[in-house]
Amino acid sequence: MDRTPSVSALDLVGNTPLLHLRNLGRETPGVELYAKAEWFNPGGSVKDRAALSMVLEAERTGELAPGKTLLDATSGNTGIAYAWIGAARGFPVKICLPQNASRERQRILRAHGVDLVLTSPMEQTDGAIREARRLYAEDPDRYYYCDQYSNANNWKAHYHGTAAEIWEQTAGRITHWVAGLGTSGTFMGTTRRLREFNSRIRCISFQPDFAFPGIEGLKHMGTAIVPPIYDPQLADEDRAVSDDQALEMVRRLAREEGLLVGPSSGAAMACTLSVARELKEGVVVTLFPDSGRNYLSERFWDEL
Ligand SMILES: Cc1ncc(COP(=O)(O)O)c(C=O)c1O
Repeated sequence: MDRTPSVSALDLVGNTPLLHLRNLGRETPGVELYAKAEWFNPGGSVKDRAALSMVLEAERTGELAPGKTLLDATSGNTGIAYAWIGAARGFPVKICLPQNASRERQRILRAHGVDLVLTSPMEQTDGAIREARRLYAEDPDRYYYCDQYSNANNWKAHYHGTAAEIWEQTAGRITHWVAGLGTSGTFMGTTRRLREFNSRIRCISFQPDFAFPGIEGLKHMGTAIVPPIYDPQLADEDRAVSDDQALEMVRRLAREEGLLVGPSSGAAMACTLSVARELKEGVVVTLFPDSGRNYLSERFWDEL
């Protein structure tokens, strides 16, 4: 009898560990700090959750049918998620990506056979979004335009997954939830469900403090194309984090916690500490979207 368990990479999305940040937490006695370690997802980032949810739903409804190419714009991590999920499920993927996305990212995408369209680095993800819209308008029958910025199955991945995991992993003790805004899927979905579990949980979003952030994956909502799934009313509070604060925390997480994380995780840590410093007690939970390994060729490592 064959007893080999049948596990595919798709089964490994979600259920990420919740790390207790004991060392950085020493600064805020009485307040426990935790982070979801999203680089444990098979594609290495939180975006595996949203991509899998959007793809499975599009397959179920028939929008992503044989013969169609999945098309979207991304700053990188969602593209990687589409790339490996597309390879695993057997559909082609076309990604519009700002040209300044790291070399490692571009190589991973090409390794999975993605058709890459590089867009102006000056326009950040907005340029990639415009190009994806243009390609879709040109040939709508050819593509399933996944549109992670407007797709409700993006935030629903966090509603059904991330939030339920956090509630269980903290045994319902969470008092504060902190997350950055990119498409806003992570914050929107997790916040909606956590509020259903306990309406007293304080939910704090954050974004970069200016229009051209060096924090990959995050958007400055005041100047960017605002994602249709983003509802600014949902947060109890919205804070700003600077590039410098984010990179300082990337350094501290590497040296004091042993965690090599990306810039948006550093930003999440900076915002989490700013929240924790205002409290006498509490259980503050954030999410670290990806690993620092994706950014090793970037200049900021020399400056850290
Ligand atoms: C590195 C990184 N951090 C944060 C985010 C933001 O997550 P969300 O799109 O769910 O708001 C992203 C999204 O692409 C990301 O790639």
